[in-house]
Amino acid sequence: MTAAQTENQRLLALREQHVPRGIATAHPIVVSHAQGSELWDVDGKRYLDFVGGIGVLNVGHNHPRVVEAVRRQVGEISHASFQVVAYASYIDVAARLNAMVGGGEAYKSVLFTSGAEAVENAIKIARGYTNRPAVISFRGGFHGRTLLGVTLTGMSQPYKQNFGPFPAEIYHATYPNEYRGVSSDDALAELDHLFATDVAPDRVAAILIEPVQGDGGFLRAPDAFLRALRERCTQHGIVLILDEIQAGFGRTGKLFGFQHAGIQPDLVTVAKSLAGGMPLSGVVGRAEIMDAPTPGAWVAPTAVTRWRVPQRWR
Ligand SMILES: Cc1ncc(COP(=O)(O)O)c(C=O)c1O
Repeated sequence: MTAAQTENQRLLALREQHVPRGIATAHPIVVSHAQGSELWDVDGKRYLDFVGGIGVLNVGHNHPRVVEAVRRQVGEISHASFQVVAYASYIDVAARLNAMVGGGEAYKSVLFTSGAEAVENAIKIARGYTNRPAVISFRGGFHGRTLLGVTLTGMSQPYKQNFGPFPAEIYHATYPNEYRGVSSDDALAELDHLFATDVAPDRVAAILIEPVQGDGGFLRAPDAFLRALRERCTQHGIVLILDEIQAGFGRTGKLFGFQHAGIQPDLVTVAKSLAGGMPLSGVVGRAEIMDAPTPGAWVAPTAVTRWRVPQRWR
């Protein structure tokens, strides 16, 4: 006699049937609801949630202020497209991000939906500003699952599989790892070696780094390393991008991971706990750099009306 099927088992069988295996689910449970730091599966079992949607829920599940903000927003307007008409909450979020990241300097923000989208656009902004092609990211880093995102990611499997060819001009440098015997000085020497052998610094648009590698094993970049990167970027006119998508919004004890090192990044990517589970991301950066892409970089309606149908198609 076989034991009766649980609701978890029933739904997981359907999940096998209808959802591809590529989105592998780590835990064999189906969640029914959650509150704060706890969640319950469909059979009523309670769990302590140590993952929080992978750094998405720094204020916990269903925080009353988040729930209230979402309810209010969908009651007012759920979608307008900022490219079509502006709305106050976008401007407010941008102003608050600029104040949080900018440290008194002039910063601007642009909003997107996913972390990978923020990273991709940070690269576009840096290239647009510097007019240079190359980007350096770090081995062990994670920057998303889009094609450019996995290319910037410094781990081949399972992210890159057989998905290539990958975008060009992406180089990987070594992230310091005291535990594995790689000091900040070793990592800096390797970066200089990369400049000497693979890509000259005056061809590099951006250096992209997580202040704490998340998927790479919760590895913290030493303050001295981030300060040295800041110096090299300033020296060579390279845009320093801090990927704070996972480390940001209080996870390191300060609002942003880079703040421990006392440096000022040129661009910062934010997502995840920015909106406590709602799909919102952004790039926050020095106003001068953020204004490099010209109007239409993120689709302006005028681009459509300005486009003329060639005579031969009419
Ligand atoms: C540091 C970092 N950058 C980028 C991303 C990609 O974010 P998303 O999954 O929202 O595209 C992640 C996601 O885990 C991340 O941890």
